Amino acid sequence: MSHAPSLLEATVTALRSLDDELLDEFLALLPPDGRAEHAQPARALPVCATLLGAELNGSAVTRPVVDAFLRGIHRFAWNQTYTADDFGAAFLDRYGWVELVGERGCFHSARLLMSFLALGPETTYPAHRHAAEEIYVPLAGDALWMKSREPRGDFVPRQPGDIIHHPSMTWHAIETLDQPLIALALWRGGDLTEKSERRPEP
Ligand SMILES: [Fe+2]
Repeated sequence: MSHAPSLLEATVTALRSLDDELLDEFLALLPPDGRAEHAQPARALPVCATLLGAELNGSAVTRPVVDAFLRGIHRFAWNQTYTADDFGAAFLDRYGWVELVGERGCFHSARLLMSFLALGPETTYPAHRHAAEEIYVPLAGDALWMKSREPRGDFVPRQPGDIIHHPSMTWHAIETLDQPLIALALWRGGDLTEKSERRPEP
């Protein structure tokens, strides 16, 4: 599990360099003892293959995090919150996340969730919301992002290094283009293991 401390260090260094007040508030919740590591059995998901076979971009700030993440890709406990009943079986082949800090993470915290979301190319992550306040930072992959007080809204392009804030219970969705997406997600407040609420069927 030696990849986890180096990934955490690379991630925190990159996030601090973005010099954002709200982001720094989230980072202040990091567990003080970075050695408190929980062993997690490695588990792969189909989305891993889409990451490894792709030309991943990134910004000068996020690229070291992407590199550290890809170095550990086979040793992570890849996970999924949704089932085929939520967004379909095809979505599950193109979606997954790795929790680094949190209730289930290598580094335990009940106050902060830090996870890495991966989506394959040409994939829609439909609108959903949750009680926790969230910051996303795309690390690799240009994609379209929606956030709205309503379950539907306009999608706008977001690039690696952007800071995307979702207040509690804000609807949000992602559409990837021809590249996969790796995005860092931070949660605070609420139940850090909550399954997001799906947009109701029209
Ligand atoms: Fe979210």
